[in-house]
Amino acid sequence: MRILSGIQPTGQFHLGNYLGALKHWVDLSTSGRSPEGRQDKGNDCFYPIVDLHALTTVHDAETLRKNTQEAQIAMLAMGFDPEKSVLFLQSQVPAHTELAWILTTLTPIGDLERMTQYKEKAAQVSKKEGINAGLLTYPTLMAADILLYNPEYVPVGEDQKQHLEFTRNLAEKFNKTYGEVFKLPKAMIQKETARVMSLQDPTQKMSKSLGAQHYIGLFEEEDSIRGKIKKAVTDSGNKIKYELREKPAISNLLAIYSGVSGKSIKDLEQEFLGKSYADFKSSLADAVMNQLRPIQKRYKELSQSPAEAAALFDKGATKANEVSQETMTLVRKKIGLNESLSR
Ligand code: TYM
Repeated sequence: MRILSGIQPTGQFHLGNYLGALKHWVDLSTSGRSPEGRQDKGNDCFYPIVDLHALTTVHDAETLRKNTQEAQIAMLAMGFDPEKSVLFLQSQVPAHTELAWILTTLTPIGDLERMTQYKEKAAQVSKKEGINAGLLTYPTLMAADILLYNPEYVPVGEDQKQHLEFTRNLAEKFNKTYGEVFKLPKAMIQKETARVMSLQDPTQKMSKSLGAQHYIGLFEEEDSIRGKIKKAVTDSGNKIKYELREKPAISNLLAIYSGVSGKSIKDLEQEFLGKSYADFKSSLADAVMNQLRPIQKRYKELSQSPAEAAALFDKGATKANEVSQETMTLVRKKIGLNESLSR
């Protein structure tokens, strides 16, 4: 089964990225199990760090370089095996921008303007700065990231679902216009951790832009993580129960607990029957640290030799270039670009 997913290098990854996406990417690259339960030998996974997407919001070379390097090390620290998954930087594979342009010519502007993520990001941009066109055409580049590799599944958090639908529509439109090239990829979304919410406001998804108290960074100091969990908002009443409407804050903490511990929410409700919020939070902090400690330790070790991490990504880019060029040869032929000139 072919899998693809990407992440932006926009600073430290948080627990939402990890539980909504990254943790499953690692599992998929080692387990080889499809959502239908079909057991394959091992999935064929492509995981780009999408540095070109980050350019829509980061316009400082040093920051982008630093964030990209940290993202590379972080992915290796999480247990990605570069022998099993193709890890690479989007910018090292020029076919992404080439296909993105081709797809842009098939994309109605109205579809781009309707995207929720575009509207949210555009609202955050200052008047002086203005909305750059890259923010608008972002989903077409994302569609290219995906379609180049013809994956069956794209494991993402719920916030990316709309972009996946957009990608499927675009693939269908391309196939109808020029002839069959692309498979229609499906989003693969985890049930409970599809949308990890803020620790301070459970109506908003966990993200760094909300402020430091709202998220848990994967490489934060233990004291800071424990402090944030202690201060996390709770709901009225005192029961530890998963009830999204009545108890959004506790439900979010239960989902996080389940995500980091592998215990089911039902089992957790049983375990904390009659216990206080304080006991629950203290145990949750232990579970979060049990999950993060080995990753943090490995991150520190790998940070000693960033060039080694970069070399593994270079190797992945070579493979990604090979695979994507195969698709591009077919695409160029189908759309009528001159083969000899475009190669
Ligand atoms: P990005 O970089 O914002 O986030 C990376 C992944 O983390 C998930 N995520 C969350 N999941 C659950 N709860 C949260 N609070 C939370 N916050 C983030 C995201 O859903 C995502 O799966 N457009 C993409 C990057 C991208 C991409 C791609 C993804 C570019 N090309 C191709 C898949 C395939 C994005 O901005 O993700």
